[in-house]
Amino acid sequence: MGCAGFGRKSGRKMAVAAPFPPVACHDLLRQRPAPAPVPESVAVIMSETRPSSVLFICLGNICRSPLAEGVMTEILRENGRDNGIVIDSAGTNGYHTGEPPDRRSIAVAAKYGIDISAQRCRQLVAADFTKFDLILGMDRRNLDAITQRRPSDSKARIGMFSLISLGREIEIPDPYYGGPEDFEHVYRMILAASKAFAERF
Ligand code: 4NP
Repeated sequence: MGCAGFGRKSGRKMAVAAPFPPVACHDLLRQRPAPAPVPESVAVIMSETRPSSVLFICLGNICRSPLAEGVMTEILRENGRDNGIVIDSAGTNGYHTGEPPDRRSIAVAAKYGIDISAQRCRQLVAADFTKFDLILGMDRRNLDAITQRRPSDSKARIGMFSLISLGREIEIPDPYYGGPEDFEHVYRMILAASKAFAERF
């Protein structure tokens, strides 16, 4: 059974049109590392209540955060944990609003059997700080932009994706001006972070 065939932003199931033969994403996901030791601040972020809604943020919402949304959604589905958990993504800028993810992100996700082609880019808005329990940036610049826009009465918890998931502050680099190998690298980082993050739910 493949992993593709979802596209939650459109609200409808997508036909699978993977440009590559689906490679067993199950195999990648099966190898679960033990959760990394959690620094206290992260423990606080995750312990109050388990998040039931998570928003992934990058700059453009066409490369990294759509991958994080797609990979995390798939892992939760495979773990039977997708009921009632909202996973979404957005960008700190709106340059690409309404566009599908970058074709290179679509391609690397499809290579591992995940269809993110139905997602549509959107910008982070004030309402997100009410709607989401947890808002996670891919890099420090994202984190700064999220923090600056946070309304003073927001209860949303904000953090760096790698720190919350892996316990280490590692930036997930912007692959926009890179090549396919950079998208592959980013995919693998996001997969590792997402697998660790799913363990913390
Ligand atoms: P992302 O990558 O933040 O991972 O979506 C980028 C996408 C677009 C641009 C920059 C980064 N841009 O400058 O258009």
